[in-house]
This record gives sequence, C-alpha cells and structure tokens, in this order.
Amino acid sequence: MPVDILVGTQWGDEGKGKLIDVLTRDVDAVVRFQGGNNAGHTVEIGDRHYVLHLVPSGIFRPGVKCVIGNGVVVDPVALDAEIRELEAKEIDTGAIELSNRAQLIFAYHKAADALNEQGAKVKIGTTGRGIGPAYSDKMRRTGIRAIDLTSPERLSAQFRTEAAKYNRLFAEAGAPQLDIEAELAKMLEAATRLAPLVTDTVYSVNAAIKAGKNVLFEGAQGALLDIDHGTYPFVTSSNTTSGGACTGGGVPPQCIRDVWGVIKAYTTRVGAGPFPTELFDATGEKLRQVGREFGATTGRPRRCGWFDAVASRYACMVNGVNKLAVTKLDVLDDLEQIAICVGYRINGKVTDQFPAALADLEAAQPVLEYHPGWKCDISGARSWSDLPENARKYLARMAELVDSEIAIISVGPRRDQTFAR
Ligand code: IMP
Repeated sequence: MPVDILVGTQWGDEGKGKLIDVLTRDVDAVVRFQGGNNAGHTVEIGDRHYVLHLVPSGIFRPGVKCVIGNGVVVDPVALDAEIRELEAKEIDTGAIELSNRAQLIFAYHKAADALNEQGAKVKIGTTGRGIGPAYSDKMRRTGIRAIDLTSPERLSAQFRTEAAKYNRLFAEAGAPQLDIEAELAKMLEAATRLAPLVTDTVYSVNAAIKAGKNVLFEGAQGALLDIDHGTYPFVTSSNTTSGGACTGGGVPPQCIRDVWGVIKAYTTRVGAGPFPTELFDATGEKLRQVGREFGATTGRPRRCGWFDAVASRYACMVNGVNKLAVTKLDVLDDLEQIAICVGYRINGKVTDQFPAALADLEAAQPVLEYHPGWKCDISGARSWSDLPENARKYLARMAELVDSEIAIISVGPRRDQTFAR
C-alpha cells in the first residue's frame, strides 16, 4: 500500500503539521526525514494547541508509528523535553522510534550556530538550533549518531573529544567556553530516557511498507529552503524536497505514490533572504495579524507577501507534487483584491523561471496579476461548493500556475476546517 510524501512548497510554515494530522486518519506510520527542531509543526485539536518540533505529527492518532528517520538531526535534550511535555498533556508517546543513524545535535553546535551568525557578513537568520553545524559535522564525518545514545561510555568519550575541538574554536574566536562536563551530564540524562527508542528504522519502515501499511513522510521547512533548490545561501542545511525522503528515510523511490505539496494561499518567510513578493505595507501587516504569522519555534514575526507562483511552480516541479493542499485561504477573506505573482522582472527582462543567482532573486520585481476578493467569512465552508465563486477562481488559478491539482483546502486551524476538492 501507498507511501506518500508531504512537503512544503514555499519557505516553510505552510501548515504542514495540520495537514499531516488530517492525513494521518488513514496512516499507519509517519516518518520525519530531514531537519531537526528548527521545525515547528502546529496542530490544533479541539481547544488544544500543540507545537511539535521533532516528534512526527502522527503522535495524536493512537496506534500511528512515529519515526524520526536517519536524515534528521536530533538534539537529545530537546527531544527528551518534547516527549515529556507531550506526556504531561497525556499524549501517548509509546510509538516513537528514533533512527540509530540519525545525527545528534549538542550544545556546541548551538553555540557554533550563534557564533557563525554573529561573525557573518551575511546573516542567514537561523533558528539557532545548531542545525547547520550538526549537518556540517555529518558531512565532515565527525558527527555522533543516535546509536551512541545506547552506549554512555562511547557517547561520553566522543562528546568530550568533539566538545574540546569546538572549545578550541570558541577560544580562537573569543567566545565563551562550553562547560563540557555540565553539558555531558544533561545529555546523558536525556540519553538514558531516549536509548529505548533507538531502532534501525530503515528496517522497520521498509518492513511496514512491505506489509502493505500506509506510510507518510513528513517534510519540514519548505522547498525554497532546500540546500540545493532554495534561495542559497539563505536556506536550511538539508534536502527539504521529496527526494530527501528516500535518503533521509532509507526507502527506495519506487515505493512512492503521491507527493502532497502544502501551499499557503499567500507567502511567508522567516529569517533573511530574498522574497520577491514581500509586502511592506498595511496589507502585509494584515496578513501577519490575521494569519497569526509568528514563528512557531522562535516567535519571530514572519515576513508576508502575495502568493508567488514562480517560486511555488519551481517547488512543485522539483518535488513532483501531484496533490496540492491549500491552507489559510480564510486569511484572505477581507481583502478587496488579491495579487498573484506570475513572473519576475529582472533587469528589464520578464521570466517565469525561478533564478539560481542570489543577485537575480534580489533584483526580481514581481509581475502581479490581480484577482477580486470574496469579502466574506469562509471559515465555515466545508465543501468546494460552499466557497464563493471568487475564492474558487483564485484557487483554480493557483493550481493552473503551479501545474498541479488541488486535493484539499483548509479554511482555519481546526481539524474540521478542512475539506477535499
Ligand atoms: P536553520 O534551519 O535554523 O539553519 O535556519 C536557516 C533558515 O531556515 C532561516 O531563515 C530560518 O528562519 C529558516 N527555517 C528553518 N526552519 C524553519 C521552519 O520550520 N519554518 C520556516 N523557516 C525555517
């Protein structure tokens, strides 16, 4: 039975957590395959509001296996705290598996992340969770993996060696030294609780697929933050696009059925980097307030702008999106007219292709197409026919421009504010 992937088609914060929660009605396992606790997946169930960072969004459905795959970078102290917080809210966390191949994030990665940002001429505006330094260690082949959580002696020895190396770098940079033994003690405490979750998830996920189970791969961040396809260097350090599910979950490409692309009805971005449709006026502020556009992980206000069909078409192409889930359509309810960016004017020339060069992205002026708003509350809509005609036309144009099919529409944060096309 099917293996599907769900990814963001913008700069993250598209509402993936909610969609995963809705889709997991029919799913046996949810697998995170990249990123770390830089992600903040928001799920609202009844009057309860949860933000997940590392735990897969299937956790609210009893019996769903929640896998943190080998491609994820895991801060053991943060994961332990997140699990304990869920348990305090009486959520059953018994179905979490942590890949023995997942790389670990430690205090020295977070300190290095902060130091890189302070010292950099070009600040990325990272989440400060140590993501870039941890992935750098993985590629440098000096990382420490989750399998080592099961051996305190090995873990301690590796941690001391790596932390001492980082302390030498911090000394050179005049940055504070890490208290290695204090950090080690905190981490060992978390390791004791996490060790029973460490599994060879490549085998367990492939076994589930072979047994005909429904498996959903949960992407974090968005395509435009992908290390290869995003607005480099203003990106995160992993492959956020669908191809990352195969490497980051250890599954073959032939097993994939659908790629769900989550697409917000407008565009947002957190942190620095080019954003051609960004609005600096009252409309941008309105989107931020009505859409509650403040980072789920860092609380930072998100930059807001019109829907960028050039960027999202590129994202849908790279991901192979065949099902679109449009979120936050209701946020546009009040607008007189709504613009869509259909091209970029770069140094006098118009293109509908997403440029690789940072200078081109920075110079890009959006070519906008205006659509009349629907000017009514659609948060109670539960079917396509409940939507006003202008909203249906807007959605149809979005789908046409990104060359994909709309399968789900979301008109509010709650589970029930979602319907199929
Ligand atoms: P990092 O992933 O913390 O290294 O941050 C790199 C860039 O990705 C920054 O611009 C962050 O704001 C952005 N970013 C990372 N995770 C997320 C996310 O889950 N949603 C939105 N932006 C993110």
